[in-house]
Amino acid sequence: MTEPLFDSTQFRQVCGHFPTGVTAVTAVTAGGDLAALTVNSFTSVSLDPPKVLFCVATAASSFPVLMEAERIAVHILSQEQEDVARRFATSGLTGADKLAGVPWVPGPDGVPLLPRTPAVLAGRRDEVITSGDHVIVLLDIDHVHLKPTTVPALSFYRGRFV
Ligand SMILES: Cc1cc2nc3c(=O)[nH]c(=O)nc-3n(C[C@H](O)[C@H](O)[C@H](O)COP(=O)(O)O)c2cc1C
Repeated sequence: MTEPLFDSTQFRQVCGHFPTGVTAVTAVTAGGDLAALTVNSFTSVSLDPPKVLFCVATAASSFPVLMEAERIAVHILSQEQEDVARRFATSGLTGADKLAGVPWVPGPDGVPLLPRTPAVLAGRRDEVITSGDHVIVLLDIDHVHLKPTTVPALSFYRGRFV
């Protein structure tokens, strides 16, 4: 591959011009290990069967937990949950440490669910596609939950929560 004529800061800046929603991904392994991280690379993929995806850095401490997870939940956050997004984006904290600071309840298979969240999807890992320093994680969704709210979704644009 030819060398790019830009650095990773410029690449990040350019990609950051694309406004995204913000999700909190949680996961649990059969052994009870927990992961919790902020993710804006979420997208829906397939309606029938229902599938979604997100990308995760292979260097993330959540990565091994996600690769072993029995079940994974994606929480589409509201503007009232910026605190969760900031906490789950803190490196150096374990999933259990991150979750100790927020209200959560165990869902199917014990996956942590954040009850204040307007929209939640949960399911099992399907394919994992390695690409560069990230993997694309496809999920088969078997649980969804909606909590009607008038609070707008939390967004991320040009490096800021909006
Ligand atoms: C708005 C926002 C979106 C993010 N999206 C992603 C993402 O899609 N994939 C990813 O691997 N990290 C993403 N991150 C970074 C992780 O949340 C951060 O690296 C976190 O520390 C990972 O948790 P861990 O260190 O416990 O694995 C995002 C951070 C923020 C603030």
